Amino acid sequence: MYKIAAIGGDGIGPEIVDAGKKVLDAAGERFNFDIAWTDFDIGAERYLKNKELLTEEDLSELKNYKAVYFGAIGDPRVQPGILEKGILLALRFHFDLYVNLRPIRLLPGIETPLAGKKPEDIDFVVVRENTEDFYVGIGSRFKGRQKTGLTVAREMYNVRFGLDIESDAEEIAYQIGVITREGARRVQTYAFDLAMRRRKKLTSVDKANVLSDVYGLWRDVFSETAKKYPQVTTEFNFVDAVTMWFVKNPEWFDVVVTPNMFGDIITDLGAMIQGGLGLAPGGNINPAGTSMFEPIHGSAPKYRGMDVANPIATIWAGSLLLDHIGEHAAAAAVLSAIEKSIRDGVVTKDLGGNAGTKKAGSYIADCVRKNG
Ligand code: IPM
Ligand code: MG
Repeated sequence: MYKIAAIGGDGIGPEIVDAGKKVLDAAGERFNFDIAWTDFDIGAERYLKNKELLTEEDLSELKNYKAVYFGAIGDPRVQPGILEKGILLALRFHFDLYVNLRPIRLLPGIETPLAGKKPEDIDFVVVRENTEDFYVGIGSRFKGRQKTGLTVAREMYNVRFGLDIESDAEEIAYQIGVITREGARRVQTYAFDLAMRRRKKLTSVDKANVLSDVYGLWRDVFSETAKKYPQVTTEFNFVDAVTMWFVKNPEWFDVVVTPNMFGDIITDLGAMIQGGLGLAPGGNINPAGTSMFEPIHGSAPKYRGMDVANPIATIWAGSLLLDHIGEHAAAAAVLSAIEKSIRDGVVTKDLGGNAGTKKAGSYIADCVRKNG
């Protein structure tokens, strides 16, 4: 019996999580385990009603669950950033979900925009650091004449541009990226361990040629960690270059490890080369605590309640969830059921089919239950 928390969230979130729950329940039937679901009412509706994002109570309750199944948040009635930072990022930080695991895999029967590339060419995993870098929320924005703000930033700016910011610059903003040795070590170690279970190749992606303090530390830690894994072939790529190689030679990649912000950017690119956002799953993992699984796409508010959203990304995230709780056979069965639904053409409109969210989801659930 597993206790799993479900947060449908906003927009299409509740529908796709419903579809996913049915598939995981079907996996439980076939592989002899039960899931006790608890739904949490977290998202835009609650925020609009009483200004609550995540309460102390939510957090202390959620920590009793090994996994959280998360739909999506984001709503046009709420200013951008409030729900994202107040809910999604808050959960990642609160539970120290330092690994953001994002498989990029072209499933058979899915069309990639990359000419001539086949499923065997697009099969890698991005391990995105999920708690540091430019996401730490240290920054400020102020008018030049004000005395507040970060003296260092102001002085640097003065030296660089020969300006007296107190009198000349109208407004200045800065945001700080933070990498810690331990933060880099733990996520890179996760990536090396993953590479050992795969094709034993690990690419570190950064921008150490320009942001040489933060990513210089990231690189040093990577080189040190690599010494413990002599069987893993390693390389460094700059983030701008890696966007070219993802498109031109995705077959070069096995595991990619990268700081938070570059990870955010390159996984949207990854989602496209694997056939679209409707297919891209993610896990936010703390190997020792509560972890959270979600599609990497957003809440698509205009499709809310219309039964058109592709549930595959969420169902695939459910497969990552099962893997995380140790139900490896069930996790594999869910992924093969997704593949079968694609083969059989029981897919949503974005993939050229005419099934709704519910039908596509329940077809996958049936395939899991019947073993094909
Ligand atoms: C993602 C999203 C989030 C991020 C947003 C919604 C805060 O883009 O999960 O990739 O930047 O991490
Ligand atoms: Mg993103």
